[in-house]
Amino acid sequence: MSTAKDDVQKSLVFVVGGSPVQRKEIAQNLQSFYMFELFNSETEISERLATSVPTAIIVDEILSPMGGAGFVAKVRKNEKTKTTPIVFTAEKKNAEIIAEATSYERVFLVERPFKRGTFVSILSSSVNASIEKKWDDVEPTQQEALKNTLSSFNSIANLIQEGEPIPYDKVRDSCAPLVEAVQNNNFKAILSGVSEHDNYTYVHSLRVATFLSLFGNVLGIKGDDLMTLSTGGLLHDVGKMHIPHEVLNKPGKLTEDEFVIMKSHVNCTVDFLEETSDLPKGVLIVAGQHHEKLDGTGYPYGLAGGKLNELARMASIIDIFSAITDRRVYKEPVPPEQALKIMINMKGQLDQQFLAVFREMLLDAATV
Ligand SMILES: [Fe+2]
Ligand SMILES: [Fe+2]
Repeated sequence: MSTAKDDVQKSLVFVVGGSPVQRKEIAQNLQSFYMFELFNSETEISERLATSVPTAIIVDEILSPMGGAGFVAKVRKNEKTKTTPIVFTAEKKNAEIIAEATSYERVFLVERPFKRGTFVSILSSSVNASIEKKWDDVEPTQQEALKNTLSSFNSIANLIQEGEPIPYDKVRDSCAPLVEAVQNNNFKAILSGVSEHDNYTYVHSLRVATFLSLFGNVLGIKGDDLMTLSTGGLLHDVGKMHIPHEVLNKPGKLTEDEFVIMKSHVNCTVDFLEETSDLPKGVLIVAGQHHEKLDGTGYPYGLAGGKLNELARMASIIDIFSAITDRRVYKEPVPPEQALKIMINMKGQLDQQFLAVFREMLLDAATV
């Protein structure tokens, strides 16, 4: 029997209210994080809500005829949408309207004007509230690893929007608990803590950071070099924040044009990272070369064989393993053993010696 919860369209966000320009701005902010539908009027969105329940609704204070707050009340009275997270956008000065709208459960305020990272983090934490709440019960080091990397990731979104350099020391600090957890073989709650989280780029990046740190640790890498693997993992795909959700999360094969867009995330990431003066070179290698393959069929440069150092080889193994075993909007995660089988068949493309070490490590740790 299907329940109201089953009918919720995962990662789909409805946007209503405010001016067309404001809705367009919100659409740009949502890009890569969520699919979205924009509605010009209360009538339009109400018709749509009769047949479909989104993950969240974004409502502006300005909406005719009853105002954004009035619409919030209407949404809450509807059996199907009474618990749907709502992000309410309003100007701070309109305190009465804000108080009215936020008097309902699961209504989260974003004050205008807002920054992209702030908006996305409020929306994401409203959608993922129950998942992030469970982190409070996790052992302290792993809890810190989860919370610190998420907040670091959200602040990076703001910096990228403003064209400001990413402060490497802050990213390093946010990864310190992750490295500590890995070194103490105490990291499983980190992986399980994000398994249901819907900020895909964050989840993938944290999983890559965790597996790269584990891989480095098993190879005897320590200190700053281990930190480079961890931060490199967290930062390796930040350029994906510019890739539209429908390309990033497309279930089938990408068209040629879409693939060009997808591939651009590597140069985008490197451009952002190059702004940071104290960034270790290894982080740039992880970010710039994680899609290269030993036989030269990778991107963006088609580097082959000896041109790919150990760091690049490790990064490509971990990125592929994580991508295959990630949970996606359109698919359940592939089990690790099956992912490894697929990768063993990528003979000319991946460093099989490194892959064997990684496989051993997973088997020993019964990691995932
Ligand atoms: Fe990537
Ligand atoms: Fe990646």
